[in-house]
Amino acid sequence: MTARSSRNKRNTRGHRPRLQEAKNKREMNMPDLFVTGTDTGIGKTVLSALLVAALDLDYWKPIQTGASEVTDRQTVIMCAGIPAERTHPEQYIFDPPVSPHLAAELKGVEIEIERIRRPLTSRRLVIEGAGGVLTPVSDDEFMLDLMRHIGVPVIVAARSALGTINHTLLTVAAIRNAALDLRGVVMIGKENKDNHRSIERYGRVPVIGSIPWLDNINRGALRSAFTQYFDASAFA
Ligand SMILES: Nc1ncnc2c1ncn2[C@@H]1O[C@H](COP(=O)(O)OP(=O)(O)O)[C@@H](O)[C@H]1O
Ligand SMILES: [Mg+2]
Repeated sequence: MTARSSRNKRNTRGHRPRLQEAKNKREMNMPDLFVTGTDTGIGKTVLSALLVAALDLDYWKPIQTGASEVTDRQTVIMCAGIPAERTHPEQYIFDPPVSPHLAAELKGVEIEIERIRRPLTSRRLVIEGAGGVLTPVSDDEFMLDLMRHIGVPVIVAARSALGTINHTLLTVAAIRNAALDLRGVVMIGKENKDNHRSIERYGRVPVIGSIPWLDNINRGALRSAFTQYFDASAFA
């Protein structure tokens, strides 16, 4: 490339609108967020869609099982009301709705965490795990090892109803043991103040948001739940 053409390239880049540049810079400084949960079917995808819709983030689910039904990526596109390009392809995807270790075994492949690479994008991501922290992904690795490999702040999706204290405290303990940055817990379902208080008290972890039971899960409802029930500063 000649000196002149490289100068032109710089000039072209320099013409990007200032606001867009400021936004990109801000986003680059903000870490991705990893959404895990106390269980499968607990509301991780709904929470991910809410964060995507409210904070204008991209979405990525590195390991997806149960793809023969509907993928979490498709659900997020629909619920958050975003174009497909704002989501990124799964790195491992399996049809049977079973744990990743078993889905991989049935297909005769091995999930290798160290081969999992963040999508090449400058946009901030919400990354959704599969199952909970001790969901196995291979003979000797768990979802927690993937979280460690990715190494971004973690949010725990927990149900609000009875049983949540034990499940949430176990999950919190595992995340802390792995020395990950735990941002907090989001409680999903009908409000339960006692459980909320107990999780904060015994887990020494903030509840940074809650999602009430929603009759219609769509972009508007998710954005308004964020405004009403979330501590926005926990996501910076
Ligand atoms: N706040 C909520 N209001 C209504 N339905 C919800 C809510 N949270 C989760 N659900 C429903 O519960 C089911 C499991 O939620 P999902 O987000 O897919 O869980 P996970 O990703 O942890 O497996 C889905 O059918 C979802 O629509
Ligand atoms: Mg999910």
